[in-house]
Amino acid sequence: MTAPIRPDRLPSVTATTYLLPLREGGSLPGLMEADDLGTYVVKFTGAGQGPRALVAEIVVAEIARAVGIRTPELALIEVSSEIGRREADDEVQQLLLTSAGTNLAVDFLPGAIGFDPALVVPPEDAAAVLWLDAFVANVDRSARNTNLLLWHRDLWAIDHGACLRFHHAWSDVDAFAGSPYRFDDHVLQGLGDPRAVHEELAALVTDDLLAGVLDLVPDAWLAPDPDRPDPRAPGSAATARDAYVSYLSARLDAAGSWLS
Ligand SMILES: Nc1ncnc2c1ncn2[C@@H]1O[C@H](COP(=O)(O)OP(=O)(O)OP(=O)(O)O)[C@@H](O)[C@H]1O
Ligand SMILES: [Mg+2]
Repeated sequence: MTAPIRPDRLPSVTATTYLLPLREGGSLPGLMEADDLGTYVVKFTGAGQGPRALVAEIVVAEIARAVGIRTPELALIEVSSEIGRREADDEVQQLLLTSAGTNLAVDFLPGAIGFDPALVVPPEDAAAVLWLDAFVANVDRSARNTNLLLWHRDLWAIDHGACLRFHHAWSDVDAFAGSPYRFDDHVLQGLGDPRAVHEELAALVTDDLLAGVLDLVPDAWLAPDPDRPDPRAPGSAATARDAYVSYLSARLDAAGSWLS
């Protein structure tokens, strides 16, 4: 797998049409068309998980890309309240109206199918995904909910909103950094060896890479969340960016705790 060059900023598009809700997704992502004629899976700021889930989506997808894991391209998408007002379904309308403004667009992979453990996956692909998920503490890659797609016969990783749990309750950095990972719950467990790829992949996750990835996140999603007051949370987008880099680089240094 070759890692593409990371952009300095995410592309920005404007939503033109709401096509349909993806109801298998707990956050009710929507399929939308945009003014660049692209079709996107849109993750909304107004979904129950809040903007932090979108921060995790960007940070983890861009780390994944940097270490050579396939994941759909991301963009920021402007959603006008007009699109919400036109929507007939009450639940979707409510979500669109509370999400008016900037949301996260994930490039739609047409014809992709859900991962099935009976399918053959190159061990190096499985190892990389296992390594990433242990590093970012992803609890959302189980046999029941794999959040892996097969597209053009390749493995693609999606749905990283449940990673980086430290940003829901800003606990001690060492507690997050050293917490073990439950590989037994992972759908790819046994199909690749994350320890074998650790040295190679960890070397790609420099503080510069992490800072660049955090720069892709809109300030508004990093600011203190008024709906979830937390006195320990960083007080501004700038301090939040530094905090994410510290938590993630401390976890990388503590790999002995989560790789064993
Ligand atoms: N980029 C994509 N291309 C094609 N299909 C996708 C894409 N992203 C998501 N899907 C489909 O939509 C479903 C829901 O998306 P996703 O898992 O990202 O949403 P979620 O609300 O975060 O889900 P969860 O319930 O796992 O938290 C996926 O299981 C997959 O079937
Ligand atoms: Mg999902």
